[in-house]
Amino acid sequence: MWTKERLQETIQAKMADYLLVIASNRQPYSHVLKSGKIICQRQPGGLVTAMNPVMQAVRGTWIAAGTSPYDRQVLDEQHKVKLPPENPSYSLRRLFLSKEETNEYYYGYCNSGLWPLCHISYTRPVFLTSDWKAYQKINEQFAQAILEEVGSERAFVWVQDYHLALVGKYLKEANRPNLITSLFWHIPWPNPETFRICPHRRELLEGFLAYDLLGFQIRYHCDNFLAAVDLELESRIDREKISVNYQNKETFIRAFPISVDFQAIEQEASSNTSRDLCEKIREDFSIGDKKLLVGVDRVDYTKGLPDRFRAIDRFLEKYPQYKEKFVFFQLGQISRLHMPRYKQLNDEISALVEGINWKHSQGSWVPIILMRSYMSYQEILALYRMADACIVSSLHDGMNLVAKEFVAARSDADGVLILSQFTGASRELPDALLINPYDYESFADTIAQALELPKEERERRMRKMREAVEQNNIYRWAGKVLSQLLKFEFQET
Ligand code: G6P
Repeated sequence: MWTKERLQETIQAKMADYLLVIASNRQPYSHVLKSGKIICQRQPGGLVTAMNPVMQAVRGTWIAAGTSPYDRQVLDEQHKVKLPPENPSYSLRRLFLSKEETNEYYYGYCNSGLWPLCHISYTRPVFLTSDWKAYQKINEQFAQAILEEVGSERAFVWVQDYHLALVGKYLKEANRPNLITSLFWHIPWPNPETFRICPHRRELLEGFLAYDLLGFQIRYHCDNFLAAVDLELESRIDREKISVNYQNKETFIRAFPISVDFQAIEQEASSNTSRDLCEKIREDFSIGDKKLLVGVDRVDYTKGLPDRFRAIDRFLEKYPQYKEKFVFFQLGQISRLHMPRYKQLNDEISALVEGINWKHSQGSWVPIILMRSYMSYQEILALYRMADACIVSSLHDGMNLVAKEFVAARSDADGVLILSQFTGASRELPDALLINPYDYESFADTIAQALELPKEERERRMRKMREAVEQNNIYRWAGKVLSQLLKFEFQET
């Protein structure tokens, strides 16, 4: 079994001569001002959940965009700060974007263009030339920061996600033979018909093919990618090796289903602190001995939040005996709020929750608690631990790590996972109660089924899911990517 220690040993034995640099848009922690003091807050999203433990094990450098003015204040002369605050083990190098760059690159090309392009959730992608130019420019800036960081040393450069697809191309243009590069794509890759919408598809694909290794969440996304390359570029696809040869460069394509730090989550969730937090949450939100359903998501239109609330509404219409017997606690982490589509979604879910709560309320009881304030990671783990069921109803999701975190937190082998069949995670977790979030009728029945599932059945399902996540943990994921990279010997020049 892969563990943190085994990953560390592998790196010490096989990669001691190499620097390890990762780059992502989202930083793992942000420094913010609270009650007159600068504090360090962990950031939401699957990328941070996955990469934070990996970086602690491999002790490399993480390059990401700073977001608050206090992020700048805590940096040393090399633009770095040691993290995580409780146990500093890696360096975060921050770069900063102007407001205009953020608008065009992050809100524009990344989140108005690529994000809706890659997710089937019926939000139209928008591609503006000005956003594309900003995307290229910021990718070049990231590449520049990486080059400065590695100097003339040998390095593995591991780029993360859809914000930085072109970084590999700029690194290649710098002609440093001592770099091995890989891109991991955390979100789905669309089918060729959808991908054709993108006006910059050729340039994007060429950017991808500048890397040595490309990682996707599931095999299906690799196949979609290869189909796009086949349609758009004069290249040679080797189906045996699963690689593409383009302009004398070979790029390998692999599926690496991402995961979580199973052991650390299990430990934290079964600690005394977690137990105290469970009690506090029960008390603060007057949950008492009612059944508890939880949801933990960024407020994003791909996560199926309105559908989830509508299913709760339908559940109460069909099973009114559950009134006053349960509470659905939804943590909705605010995300990308400057974009009209996200603002509209926030307004939509507030109105929905208000309407459903009014419709079904009895005395002081309401079915849905929508929590938008920041909750610490420990509090989130306590929520998982105390829940009778966790609902993940994404309309489309590359993996979804909330599902895996929930399973890892349940060392008591209890709790039911209600999981959308449109998540990457559903392929590894067939013992969850799988739902189609578009089908409210059967979604509502599945909520009832979750609340009525006998203990032995809950345990049987949870044990099987735990086995899967424990085996395929985040260290195995990192170990597999790095082992692939190690196969590329540096060419001495
Ligand atoms: C998704 C993306 C991640 C991103 C996260 C949070 O999970 O794949 O790259 O970090 O969303 O999104 P945000 O826009 O808030 O960084």
